[in-house]
Amino acid sequence: MGYLLGIDIGTSGTKTVLFNEKGELISSETAEYPLYQPENGWAEQRPEDWWNAVVTTISAVLKKSGIKGAEISGIGLSGQMHGLVMLDSDNNVLRPAIIWCDQRTAKECDELEHTVGKEKIISITSNPPLTGFTAAKILWVRNNEPEIYDKCRHILLPKDYIRFMLTGEYATEVSDAGGMQLLDVPRRCWSDEILSLLGIERSLLAKVYESPDVTGTVTASAAALTGLREGTPVAGGAGDNAAAAVGMGVVRDGRGFVTIGTSGVVYAHTSALCRDPKGRIHTLCSAVPGEWHIMGVTQAAGLSLKWFKDNLCEKEIYDAKKTGENVYALLDKAASKVPVGSNRLFFLPYLMGERSPHLDPHARGGFIGLSASHTKADMLRSVMEGVTFSLKECLDIFETAGVKTKNMLACGGGGSSALWRQMLADIFGCEIQSTISSEGAALGAAILGGVCCGIYKSVQEACDIICKTSDSCIPDSNLNTIYNKLYNLYASLYPSLKEFYKQCAKENIY
Ligand code: XUL
Repeated sequence: MGYLLGIDIGTSGTKTVLFNEKGELISSETAEYPLYQPENGWAEQRPEDWWNAVVTTISAVLKKSGIKGAEISGIGLSGQMHGLVMLDSDNNVLRPAIIWCDQRTAKECDELEHTVGKEKIISITSNPPLTGFTAAKILWVRNNEPEIYDKCRHILLPKDYIRFMLTGEYATEVSDAGGMQLLDVPRRCWSDEILSLLGIERSLLAKVYESPDVTGTVTASAAALTGLREGTPVAGGAGDNAAAAVGMGVVRDGRGFVTIGTSGVVYAHTSALCRDPKGRIHTLCSAVPGEWHIMGVTQAAGLSLKWFKDNLCEKEIYDAKKTGENVYALLDKAASKVPVGSNRLFFLPYLMGERSPHLDPHARGGFIGLSASHTKADMLRSVMEGVTFSLKECLDIFETAGVKTKNMLACGGGGSSALWRQMLADIFGCEIQSTISSEGAALGAAILGGVCCGIYKSVQEACDIICKTSDSCIPDSNLNTIYNKLYNLYASLYPSLKEFYKQCAKENIY
């Protein structure tokens, strides 16, 4: 039997996982690295740190499992999307990578809108100008660090830098490239029109593949460093969400997933190109060749609950330490005693501004409807409900864009809470399932590695063999009716606060 390696270049660390051909986990290793925030709203990482983490974790999984590099048939890469890596003509990293959550590019988004036009940007890239996406970051470097821009010869995404280090190839694939805002997402190739309007040389960009294509093979020097076999094929792989979709078997119409991690993601597969003309949700290429996905991202999902815990739950943190219980399990217990609707208390989860569906960096969080009778437990439950309502706002736009999901898989920290899973089912009004494997993106990457080396005929065939679901939560129709009424009230809040947020963000307010 051959083995497959999935490498996921995350924000907190790189996770490398070795699987057998049945998708069973053989060994897994994670190495962490820092996130630098040199200024408020900036977020950078060192590509060299990612590479060191990749080398360390590959060597460690091989050592731990006793499997030889030569037994690995294929490798797949997955990673944080949208990051900007710049290399000079000798392939030296020119500056730290500006990563997905960096928010420095408001002016460059205006420049994008002005130079290309909002409608054209949406029609070609399927997304409105976004601060987190790569194009605005490239413009920022050109505007603010022209000497670096002049030296730049190669622009790569985070996982594609790792591919370069493993194979010597400058290559990317459609699911991640779509998040650069330079790809013609319907046609799955670089947009010469956008590149020429922005004055960005096409030669700076990598060659675009479909996700399961072979993009190169491991070089002798990478093999010597990692213990891999020279010549092992490396698949295109996918951006973290598209890879997680493969790892969960979300590769056919009607399938979707919801992640409640730091941010919250709702994702649905679509074989036909579907878009929101207003660009309130993302349409990107899926890792299934010739197909797409739509996705909504709420910036502060798990982050809202963590913020609540860190600032207001000292006692629960103390109790959890004393008893050895997980603090989130304690919070779940408290929230489950509060009735649906948190006694008419609403929480807006805009602690980090908002991406989907409001795209407003000035939006801020809040509790609305507080009365003297409310307790901390009411507030806690309303945080969970507010995050879930925010995700439902994205799902509603999926439906108007023509994408309907029959059931969804729940993952991330929030997805492991039975209370939150049931709340998702009751608020979304659809069945919420869990997956047996929790390896998500790393498994998806490994599956793509398996397709690229011919172990599986297609991504969908591989997922049918490997991806299994476990227990599911069925929506309670009475609670769904109540939640629909509460959701309509929730949905009226942002429009009434929008102007307030704008005024509040003005520099000269006091
Ligand atoms: C997707 C996004 C994040 C990053 C980091 O648009 O910004 O999911 O990929 O994980």
